[in-house]
Amino acid sequence: MGAYDDDYRASVSDPNAFWGRQAAAIDWFRTPSTVLDDSAAPHYRWFPDGRLNTCYNALDRQVIRGLADEPALIFHSAITGARQTYTYAKLLELVAQLGGALRDLGVARGDRVVIYLPMVPEAVIAMLACARIGAIHSVVFGGFAATELAARIDDAQPKVVISASCGLEADRVVAYKPLLEAALAKASHQPSHCVILQREQLRAELVQPRDLDFDLLMRPGSCEPAVCEELAATDPLYILYTSGTTGKPKGIVRDNGGHAVALAYSMSTIYDIGVGDVMFTASDVGWVVGHSYIVYAPLLVGATTVLYEGKPVGTPDAASFWRVASMHRVKALFTAPTAIRAIRKVDPDGALIDNYDLSSLQTLFLAGERLDPDTFGWAGKKLGVPVVDHWWQTETGWPIAANPRGLEPLPLKAGSPSVPVPGFDVAVLGRDGVPVPAGQEGAICLRLPLPPGTLTTVWGDDNRFVAGYLSTFEGYYLTGDGGYLDEDGYLYVMGRTDDVINVAGHRLSTGAMEAVLASHPAVAECAVIGVADELKGQLPRGLVVTKAGFTGEDSTLAAELVAMVRQEVGAVACLRQVDVVAALPKTRSGKILRKTMRDIADGRPTVVPSTIEDPAVVDALTPVLRGLLRG
Ligand code: COA
Ligand code: AMP
Repeated sequence: MGAYDDDYRASVSDPNAFWGRQAAAIDWFRTPSTVLDDSAAPHYRWFPDGRLNTCYNALDRQVIRGLADEPALIFHSAITGARQTYTYAKLLELVAQLGGALRDLGVARGDRVVIYLPMVPEAVIAMLACARIGAIHSVVFGGFAATELAARIDDAQPKVVISASCGLEADRVVAYKPLLEAALAKASHQPSHCVILQREQLRAELVQPRDLDFDLLMRPGSCEPAVCEELAATDPLYILYTSGTTGKPKGIVRDNGGHAVALAYSMSTIYDIGVGDVMFTASDVGWVVGHSYIVYAPLLVGATTVLYEGKPVGTPDAASFWRVASMHRVKALFTAPTAIRAIRKVDPDGALIDNYDLSSLQTLFLAGERLDPDTFGWAGKKLGVPVVDHWWQTETGWPIAANPRGLEPLPLKAGSPSVPVPGFDVAVLGRDGVPVPAGQEGAICLRLPLPPGTLTTVWGDDNRFVAGYLSTFEGYYLTGDGGYLDEDGYLYVMGRTDDVINVAGHRLSTGAMEAVLASHPAVAECAVIGVADELKGQLPRGLVVTKAGFTGEDSTLAAELVAMVRQEVGAVACLRQVDVVAALPKTRSGKILRKTMRDIADGRPTVVPSTIEDPAVVDALTPVLRGLLRG
């Protein structure tokens, strides 16, 4: 047996012993005497009596162990040209300062802070400052607009919101402050303060009494820097909202102890990153990939993390990732397949790659959506390094299936994120809840208990946690993805089995877009489905039925609906096409047949359920849906 098999077997046969050993990678104020508490199953708790501080582990202890002058964070903006390196000592000083300032604003352990910031170092500083004082941060991706931000503010009920005057996209400056004001106008909950980072590209007017200038809070001497709060391992570190099948986002709750242990384990086992190594995760701090592998994991192991503001292409060219990787001697680059497809589209031969010294680069990690074999092959050939697909979700916080490069590199197979990661007991179940034979597709599930670092609940809604994830198959967590295991135990993830869609590596809810379409006075019924797209993986398309008596132009209505979704959900939704149709296919009980429509649109064999109300509706829709593929 190899090292992978050893770890895997140990992790599932005796999770207590296995994770007890891994916990030694973290500094505890009180070492946990219990590893797994299953007394309230299915609400499992890891390291229940352990006490620690995640920020202490990420910063203070690295300074104590001699890394004070080593780079912790490199900020590289491809848009402004900024390059800033923060040593561990400097980052600690800034985080302690902001932590003190937040504490003086009345933020205490367990209070929530919403962070709505672009990819700037202050986002990392804000997250760590919250962790330091035991406040629970909730970062909202900058590409979401007012309605989505308001929903998160109402659910998390933050004492303070930290935001910026603007974000910088490739072709425009996005004013954040008006979006925040619009969100607060919609929200019932109001924070006591909004701390605004002023960026020189577009300053915001701080006219509200609750508005504060970020830089003023950061003035040295303006407050007593915060020391690390001693927290229970089970105290929440953050809430991160993700799209569910309804329009209401789900607040995934991450604890402190399990998270720190799991991320440290993942760095040595999967990514092979430790002290002195540089990791460049080209994602956004608003997504789980950014939380785990831009912010927490690299710092927890004393490595250097690169924070990149810009796009893979167009800022200014398709060589941005290679430029950053060579300039900062990056060892592991992590991004989404769509970013590689975007680069390939502009530079099909990978000619720009040859202009850079990529000798430090050892691995390209990809996640966020299915990695198509074509992109896998292209990237491997052009970069000459292993391309490692790995599969995970906001809920799990770290990879479920991967190729354990640090533990034991296994053969790579195109189309598969390789094998279950130690800690994750993966099973593919049929409709009857029984594991299906190798090669047969089913629902990918995880046998309980989930390992440390995975969600502990849905914020404020234990019932939704149990109903949404744990109730379909007794004793299992439902991932929402379908796929199969092959004879060698390699997993193949084929796509979502629900109405969540994945657009350019961004997980979006069709329900949220439908809620916007349905709010238009002319719309009687609507559906949003994800259809295949070569570059972005999937794109949303809307179908609406108008109310009786509607006399307007279909094209005008469609344009209004597209604009509304952009305005309320955000540009990142990428809903660019809405069709006005006569009727939507439904079951006799009134359920809209989205899967049937998706299958028709993507040209897959379509099974129309026998419970359909009117089969003629499907026939009438088929040309429209087929046109969507070309649309
Ligand atoms: N703030 C404001 N607007 C944002 C934004 C942000 N943080 N992020 C994206 N947007 C806007 C974009 O400007 C774009 O607006 P447009 O319609 O006016 O062009 C829109 O949202 C769609 O964005 P995106 O899907 O990112 O498309 P794009 O054409 O700008 O870029 C890719 C395409 C493939 C290059 C880009 O999506 C990408 O890099 N994807 C990787 C995603 C990723 O890292 N996912 C995390 C999981 S690892
Ligand atoms: P998110 O919660 O935003 O990280 O999105 C998680 C979802 O993205 C998963 O449930 C999958 O549907 C999809 N996904 C992420 N990584 C992969 C991958 N490597 N292969 C296939 N699908 C993936």
